[in-house]
Amino acid sequence: MNKTLMKFSWLAATVLAAAPAFAADNAEVERGRYLATAGDCVACHTAPGGKSMAGGLALASPLGSIYSTNITPSKTHGIGNYTLQQFTDALRHGKRADGANLYPAMPYTAYAKTTDEDIAAMYAYFMQGVQAVDDAPAKQTDLPFPFNIRASLSVWNAMFHDATPYKADASQPPEWNRGAYLAQGLAHCTTCHTPRTALMAEDAKRSLGGADLGGWYAPNITSHASSGIGSWTEEELVAYMSGKPVPGKGPAAGPMAEAVDHSLKHLSAEDLKAIAVYVKSLPAVDDGSLKQSAASFGKQTDALDSVRGVDLPKDYNAMTGAQIYDGYCAACHQAQGQGTEGGGLPSLFNNTSLGHANSNNLVQVLLHGIERHGADSVMPGFAHELTDKQITSLGNYLLTSYGNPSAKVTEQQVAQLRDPAAAGSGSSLLTLARIGMAVGVIVVLALIAWLVRRRKS
Ligand code: HEC
Ligand code: HEC
Ligand code: HEC
Repeated sequence: MNKTLMKFSWLAATVLAAAPAFAADNAEVERGRYLATAGDCVACHTAPGGKSMAGGLALASPLGSIYSTNITPSKTHGIGNYTLQQFTDALRHGKRADGANLYPAMPYTAYAKTTDEDIAAMYAYFMQGVQAVDDAPAKQTDLPFPFNIRASLSVWNAMFHDATPYKADASQPPEWNRGAYLAQGLAHCTTCHTPRTALMAEDAKRSLGGADLGGWYAPNITSHASSGIGSWTEEELVAYMSGKPVPGKGPAAGPMAEAVDHSLKHLSAEDLKAIAVYVKSLPAVDDGSLKQSAASFGKQTDALDSVRGVDLPKDYNAMTGAQIYDGYCAACHQAQGQGTEGGGLPSLFNNTSLGHANSNNLVQVLLHGIERHGADSVMPGFAHELTDKQITSLGNYLLTSYGNPSAKVTEQQVAQLRDPAAAGSGSSLLTLARIGMAVGVIVVLALIAWLVRRRKS
């Protein structure tokens, strides 16, 4: 063998030997990217119109804004100096690199379920697959006393936070375990759908039993036939999470639309099926709110007789629900609320959005519309066209004609939800605010206990 050839074969050998190692690295980064998508990190860590993962999204809370931070690998403003251990501590224990507690607006309570290997893959992705953004730091969170005491969150964490990673249930098949792992962990369904106790811990006995998020209501998604989604098939649940229309169920809106658009619809078909299998298997929680399933209300009908040939009142606030429907909605949802089959316009009867006892989601959709990425037809918001009184008349007309007639819309509710900041743009903020208050209560109780004990001695 001549020298050149030898050198060549040595080179080929090293390249070949090196190739699998390099590919494995890449595969690790790609795996991390997928897991970060399942965790929906981008939704909170990107400001509107801002650079991906550079933080600065203001999570408005009644106590002041909490800003998400820059989690790009920037060494000056991001997490470029985080070690794997520090990154793990953030996700598993809600601890920042400097040891301070993160506010639970960051859903570490769910992310803690993630395995060390998966956290390591995400770390590889954040360090190598995310573009570093060195711009000036996002605004700093500065909440008033007692919410600014990050240290007091240690009390709450010690009482309620379970930092142990998910342990597979040997009595269940791998598919179920995969679904449980994702739903309880990165996809954090329970953060929104599980009701909380007075001290803001998730109520394990009513897991996924439906929770009031302040502005939005995350419905009961246990297998209960009327209160929950017992009437949904596994395929319907998968289609819903993929952002596809599901006849009779209504599209995801608000925080759920964000979860679908940024995260769930990008998951593999197998993973979505696994989540559906797991969710469908959960014990039914009856919250007593419904005697029939949310999707079973209403029928095709109109109130055109009350509209035809009748002059509109001079005071637009005196318009009836039927008149408002005729003027603003019928062009798309059709005269009898039937929508268009396959045309992307949902029917309003047999539609879960009008079936729940809690009417917040309906009011939110009427005011702010539904924002969907890449949808052909969108539901516009009517906050600028209709007054509180009009939205109230319209909402109650829709509920009695097409939905759950025992649900009600009130003017006060509409006024509250009209301001999206006051209504809360998602669960985390209100959860945070309430955890803040719970922490405040704990601190006060601890103080009283301490004073009482001091008096005794
Ligand atoms: C619901 C919103 C939300 C989601 C989803 C979210 N985060 Fe966060 N995250 C926050 C907020 C808000 C903070 C800042 C909290 C504070 O200041 O206490 C934060 C802080 C962090 C920090 C600490 C950074 C620092 O400044 O030192 C890390 C690391 C982090 N998040 C990683 C992630 C990863 C990885 C994901 C996805 C798996 C994720 N986050 C998803 C809201 C979120
Ligand atoms: C950020 C909060 C949030 C997260 C995370 C979240 N959801 Fe939701 N979900 C909601 C809200 C709010 C609604 C109501 C949306 C609407 O009416 O359009 C909803 C609606 C639903 C519905 C429709 C229920 C009905 O009766 O109409 C299903 C099913 C659902 N979610 C499943 C899930 C699953 C499964 C996960 C986890 C993989 C999940 N959600 C994660 C907030 C959330
Ligand atoms: C320009 C057409 C258009 C107009 C006008 C319109 N809608 Fe919609 N509406 C839609 C589309 C499209 C959707 C489904 C959005 C999606 O899938 O993301 C929708 C969804 C809805 C939903 C949610 C249903 C569900 O299944 O969750 C309700 C409720 C609703 N519309 C009521 C109304 C009312 C009441 C009016 C009148 C004030 C109205 N819409 C006006 C197009 C329209």
